[in-house]
Amino acid sequence: MVHFGHANALRQAKALGDKLIVGVHNDDEIIKHKGPPVFTEEERYKMVAGIKWVDEVVEGVPYVTNLEVLDKHDCDFCVHGDDITMTADGVDTYSFVKAAGRYQEIQRTAGVSTTDLVGRMLLLTRQHFRRGEFEYDVAKEHSSTMGQDSSAKSPWTGCSQFLPTTQKIIQFSDGKPPKPGDKIIYAAGAFDLFHVGHLDFLEKARAKGDYLIIGLHTDPVVNRYQGSNYPIMNLHERVLSVLACKYVSEVVIGAPYIVTEDLLDHFKVDLVVHGKTPIANDENGLDPFAIPKRLGKFLIIESGNDMTTKKIVERIITNRLKYEQRNLEKEKKELQVWQYVQDNNLQSNQIIVKN
Ligand code: C5P
Repeated sequence: MVHFGHANALRQAKALGDKLIVGVHNDDEIIKHKGPPVFTEEERYKMVAGIKWVDEVVEGVPYVTNLEVLDKHDCDFCVHGDDITMTADGVDTYSFVKAAGRYQEIQRTAGVSTTDLVGRMLLLTRQHFRRGEFEYDVAKEHSSTMGQDSSAKSPWTGCSQFLPTTQKIIQFSDGKPPKPGDKIIYAAGAFDLFHVGHLDFLEKARAKGDYLIIGLHTDPVVNRYQGSNYPIMNLHERVLSVLACKYVSEVVIGAPYIVTEDLLDHFKVDLVVHGKTPIANDENGLDPFAIPKRLGKFLIIESGNDMTTKKIVERIITNRLKYEQRNLEKEKKELQVWQYVQDNNLQSNQIIVKN
């Protein structure tokens, strides 16, 4: 998947240099070494290119990074998180760049991983919802082999859930207010499991003006109109996912479902936009966009992309067995490497050789 943990890695990588080039593996390489990807290679190339710290994407790079790839793209060094990754044959994927002294490490983001997100989707868990103190008790009650608890077991992600801080929001945010005369666009939604459909929508929305504000609905609000265990990502996680997108200027954390005149005035909104997906009325049967519509400030935008959060979940459920197997194997492999690293007192930036 592509999630805000990756965005945070790319943010740290960019800070180590002037230009960030991201190599993305194709589907065949991922299937061979890691198991089935959730997003196709085309989707992943596009999603990575949409992250604001990325200057360039190189498509279909080899799973084991070699010096030829670095030289071809004029890269001084290669950056990876402080977990150890191995090929299917037990070779350290960064052995060549480590040996050449062209390797730098960044900190992995604890509490977010593809394994965890896939677990939430398959188990229909809701313990990731943000409702205050209560959520922690629920999390403790529901122990399982996947979902929140699998990341607790993972030696590198370490902690059972992502712990959002104001520091992280500051790091992700541009911190720039609109300039005088900027045309301000507002869109609201769930933006759950941030995907290519959202990205295409945001690109079109941003093109309608100069400054794009995204209002994110709270978890109970999203759950009211989407049901089941939606949203898969809680509000804090969705905030970071949306902030990482290069078209977004600002995020409202927990936006009112009804777009009020107050909100339009407060943010000096010129235009409210929405995609072609259905618009649910509020609990009283009211159209959330009635006010901007009456003011002539509402526009439907065609993203040209039919991806939805539900489609991602369907993909996971259709391939349930494959993903369950993927998660079990990945966890087993990680624990084995972790044990080996501990037994031999190794550091993650050393070359790890284990068969
Ligand atoms: O469904 P959600 O609330 O996440 O959608 C956020 C915004 O993105 C909505 O305006 C929706 O219509 C738009 N969207 C889109 N094309 C997609 C998916 C979402 O235009 N494929």
